[in-house]
Amino acid sequence: MEIKQVEDYQAMSEAGAQLIMETVNSLEKPVLGLATGSTPEGVYKRLIEAHQSEKVSFRHTTSFNLDEYVGMLGSDPNSYRYFMDKKFFDHIDIDKQKTFVPNGKAEDLQRECEQYEQLLMDHHEIDLQLLGIGTNGHIGFNEPGTPFSTKTHIVDLAPSTRKANARFFESEQDVPEQAITMGIATIMKSKQIVLLVSGEKKARALDQLLHGEVSEDFPASILQTHPNVQVIADKAALSKVS
Ligand code: F6R
Repeated sequence: MEIKQVEDYQAMSEAGAQLIMETVNSLEKPVLGLATGSTPEGVYKRLIEAHQSEKVSFRHTTSFNLDEYVGMLGSDPNSYRYFMDKKFFDHIDIDKQKTFVPNGKAEDLQRECEQYEQLLMDHHEIDLQLLGIGTNGHIGFNEPGTPFSTKTHIVDLAPSTRKANARFFESEQDVPEQAITMGIATIMKSKQIVLLVSGEKKARALDQLLHGEVSEDFPASILQTHPNVQVIADKAALSKVS
């Protein structure tokens, strides 16, 4: 893993956006893996600005999001489809038909997982996968204890994850109990992975990622075994790294 230390959230966002632009600008048909949450929002803002000043076009880009809450329509403001549309896709020239987010409202969720995985495989590998990390080490919604071999699947969200995400909902009870997520094996197939880490509340997780053992109890630890990972972390996130 290559660690890039930056000053703060703004610098992390700038560096993350640069890497995505390099990928998008250098490939004929780039395939991006995208994340939601607070961490990548700044990256999406930078990419929108870059698009507006004609530094990047997403016309030939296909994107796959990591996850979606079960039971949520894409029109629900708390859904990840809505997040992506409002915070990124609606402001760039990507073909919306080529932006994929798992369907949390699918009648047959198991089948939805299989189809999503198949769709990903049909596009070969993801060229660049953007990731955030949960305080418990989750990537996507792969919670501690998830086998490293998992493909796209349905997960029960950990109480700590529902608590962390309650800030977007009226109350913790409103946070869905399940989600569909790309599996760890799915994520690991990506050619390049960019992990963004910002803020003191992620400092322990980052220390464990960098110095802990590779274990299913801490899903992000698998990234230590991937040949092409860039971790972009700000000073606050690196504050507990020994
Ligand atoms: C989001 C996702 C999650 C988040 C993680 C960190 O699509 O897959 O793994 O990256 O929960 O969330 P934030 O960035 O809100 O701290």
